[in-house]
Amino acid sequence: MAKKEENKMEKIVSLAKRRGFVYPGSDIYGGLANTYDYGPLGVELKNNIKRAWWKYFIQDREDMVGIDGGIISSAKVWEASGHIKNFKDPLVECKKCHHRFRVDKLKDLKKCPDCGGEFTEEKQFSLLFKAMIGPVEGEQETAYLRGETAQNIFVNFKNVLNSNNKKIPFGIGQIGKAFRNEVTTGNFIFRTLEFEQMEIEYFIAPDADWNKIFENWVDDIHNFADLIGLNKKNFNDDEIKKDELAFYSKRTIDMEYKFPFSDEHEELWAIAYRTDYDLTQHQKASGQSMEYFDEPTKAKYIPHVIEPTFGVDRTLLALLSEAYHEEGEGDEMRVVLKLKPNMAPYKIAVAPLLGNKEKLSEKAREIFVELKKKWNCVWDDRGNIGKRYRSQDEIGTPYFIVVDFDSLEDEAVTVRDRDTTKQERVKIADLDSYFSEKLNN
Ligand code: GAP
Repeated sequence: MAKKEENKMEKIVSLAKRRGFVYPGSDIYGGLANTYDYGPLGVELKNNIKRAWWKYFIQDREDMVGIDGGIISSAKVWEASGHIKNFKDPLVECKKCHHRFRVDKLKDLKKCPDCGGEFTEEKQFSLLFKAMIGPVEGEQETAYLRGETAQNIFVNFKNVLNSNNKKIPFGIGQIGKAFRNEVTTGNFIFRTLEFEQMEIEYFIAPDADWNKIFENWVDDIHNFADLIGLNKKNFNDDEIKKDELAFYSKRTIDMEYKFPFSDEHEELWAIAYRTDYDLTQHQKASGQSMEYFDEPTKAKYIPHVIEPTFGVDRTLLALLSEAYHEEGEGDEMRVVLKLKPNMAPYKIAVAPLLGNKEKLSEKAREIFVELKKKWNCVWDDRGNIGKRYRSQDEIGTPYFIVVDFDSLEDEAVTVRDRDTTKQERVKIADLDSYFSEKLNN
């Protein structure tokens, strides 16, 4: 991989920890491999991604509703869906250092990339996490942590249909955690044991023009990328070959993104045509009808499904990668996260020019309290103003308001723009309309 990109990845990981976006999981105990916790800024960024997704794909559309299903589900769900049988990775283990590798990710199957040792025979490892229910050992029921959020939606298809007045075509969306016993890990939050998905199952008639509906969803996914500030030049839509499709899919496109940890594009999101596979499986296994009755035509059928799927954590990593910029040189160098304002954890920083001048602090606080009612603002009066600008640039705060001595006379403040570093004088009374326009609400 190019050295520059490798350095960029290291810088992003370091910034993420230092500024409170992402911490290693169980950090004070030396960490737990491939688990992460999100800090104060990480949770804001994550929530901004999820909010934008929910609004764009659920609330702004008439043909979508949402659910929030449970993480623990009956083993029967995963038997029926085929995950217990098929959701496996082929792995080999090094006989010397005992590190395990996914066969499809190894460049050389003859020797271990970590120590040069010989490999064991290939074995299949289940990706599903078992959860034991019940207090008495030996009498516990085996359940599973969901390996994808999608199954909640299939299992609840009839519940949603019966409790809402939805006609096909319509979709159900969900945001939530999924769990996979991944072995090939690393690359920060790209592939972890616990992660969040934003998934849609869009139900269509068996004779619908599924390719056209599929293509419309591809367009919507591209529009979403634009909405949150991911540039299409960093994407590669990879049409998966027939013999490489997942066990449930007839057509899949992986929306790949150019992450800095790899020279290749890697999967960020995906869209699949899952046919009527899942609902048919659940109908067979549960004995409950998954059929839909179409009143106008009197047709009864098991709907087919188009599934757009998104990983929250990978989206966050893509946003950090795309936003990370270094500008200027030497002492003048600044790191700036050029996040779109709708994604930035804080929208506006507010401060008195000098932290120890009571009159300035009072005025700045009044402004801060007022603006905070509408936008997520941050108070920042530590150190000199130049350092504070740098500090807010590094976490992507788009605007910085400074109250100076003139403010006490002219009822105006300086507003600095993160990207241009230009400053302009704005009347305090006009700040609401100024930011409503700039921040698009
Ligand atoms: N319901 C379909 C499904 O789960 P997937 O391609 O296996 O498809 C969907 O996963 C998305 O979830 C991926 O595109 C990726 O963004 C995210 N994802 C999958 N495994 C992940 C992992 N171990 N860590 C982080 N994100 C993951």
